[in-house]
Amino acid sequence: MSTPTTPDTDPNRTPPQAGKPAPKLYIKTFGCQMNEYDSRKMADVLAASDGYVRTTEPDEADLLLLNTCSVREKAQEKVFSELGRWREWKAARPERQVAVGGCVASQEGEAIATRESLVDVVFGPQTLHRLPSLLEQTRTTGRPSVDVSFPEIEKFDRLPEPQADGPTAFVSIMEGCSKYCSFCVVPYTRGEEVSRPVDDVLVECAQLADRGVREITLLGQNVNGYRGALRDGGSCDLALLIHYVARLEGVERIRFTTSHPMEFDDGLIEAFADEPKLANYLHLPVQSGSERILKLMKRPHTIDGYVDKIRRLRMVRPDIALSSDFIVGFPSETDEDFEATMNLIAEVRFDSAFSFIYSPRPGTPASNLRDGVATEVKQERLRILQGRIKQLSDEYCRALVGQSHKVLVERPSRRGNGQMAGRLSNNRWVNFDAPEHLLGTFVDVTVTESLNNSLRGRLAEAASPA
Ligand code: SAM
Ligand code: F3S
Repeated sequence: MSTPTTPDTDPNRTPPQAGKPAPKLYIKTFGCQMNEYDSRKMADVLAASDGYVRTTEPDEADLLLLNTCSVREKAQEKVFSELGRWREWKAARPERQVAVGGCVASQEGEAIATRESLVDVVFGPQTLHRLPSLLEQTRTTGRPSVDVSFPEIEKFDRLPEPQADGPTAFVSIMEGCSKYCSFCVVPYTRGEEVSRPVDDVLVECAQLADRGVREITLLGQNVNGYRGALRDGGSCDLALLIHYVARLEGVERIRFTTSHPMEFDDGLIEAFADEPKLANYLHLPVQSGSERILKLMKRPHTIDGYVDKIRRLRMVRPDIALSSDFIVGFPSETDEDFEATMNLIAEVRFDSAFSFIYSPRPGTPASNLRDGVATEVKQERLRILQGRIKQLSDEYCRALVGQSHKVLVERPSRRGNGQMAGRLSNNRWVNFDAPEHLLGTFVDVTVTESLNNSLRGRLAEAASPA
């Protein structure tokens, strides 16, 4: 196996042939929004290089891509069971290609192709722009190509112009994470934090806005650690970047994720105060309410510090929606530690959250800690925590009934009942009757009902007779 040095501009690569039907690409994505963004970019790169069009049917695909996640063991296991399912598919037409990217690829490298002989290409989150030449190399040599290097920001320099897929889009503004929380594999699979230059981010946002995008989510594993280079040699933080993006014509709403509590600073609180285009929603992972567990997790923030930041944020945005990430069953977590987490939830009143049972990740410092918490205890704690968050979420949603909100009409409702679906500024989905021509525009919707996982609403215009 070899690692190519040439990027996707390789002059020896066979160009798409005129008159031939476009080859089809199927992508299966696991994991976070960064992976969703990367999958989009893979499709853009392959469309530009070889005319690939995306299909939702693996059976008709000429190229199958698996974009993987290794944050928890379950996600990692899915990769090999998925590849197992694809064996027959490859056997039926051996000229089809299979490529594995993302964090599992980054961690396992060549071992994936050794374990699963159907794999033609293994590439990392930072080398997705080299996919066309890696695929070509395998076609030429008949051997798997592997490139899981970290060529820093080169990836972004080699990407074609972004294609819009509706009125919302993700824009990755930085790669990697340098926080090294003791449980997390991300710094090892995605590398250290590298921020994209401000101009590059703004060009991508402007191109998306030109293609009808109205809401942009700025992405990074540690997005508020953003320090982008300015043309004059200075540096720009996330708060300033938000103000710049807000000035772009067509951009009406901005979100960002995921933030680390340490770098959630006064500048960002001021951005929430001053920038009306910044959505009324913050996802600020805290992981645990116990100071002792936070120390073991190598999370340098304190609970008091976290609560104080939320208090000051609510002074400028009293009705902001707040969400977080929690890990239960971290090694040595006692009933008291868990109670501290539940107390924090009660105090902050998060209206949504992502919560997980701790999963030891190979190579991380926490994986050397003695576990000591029984599986049933972990499951019970997760159940209690999720039950409490659900209760808070229901209360939050019920309080929205009767209120009128600006909603971006994003797509037809998945219920297939002719309704449209969109999100409020607070990130909640609402379904409502509306004509299709309103897709991609902001409308006023009155929330009429709170359902299990969404809201029902009524177009404000429809409320009053014409
Ligand atoms: N950058 C974010 C932050 O500031 O915490 C976190 C990004 S991480 C990829 C997403 C979430 O996965 C984390 O917030 C954490 O709750 C969860 N996670 C990460 N490693 C985990 C592990 N080993 N076991 C269980 N959950 C994990
Ligand atoms: Fe992971 Fe901690 Fe970074 S959770 S992504 S190491 S902030």
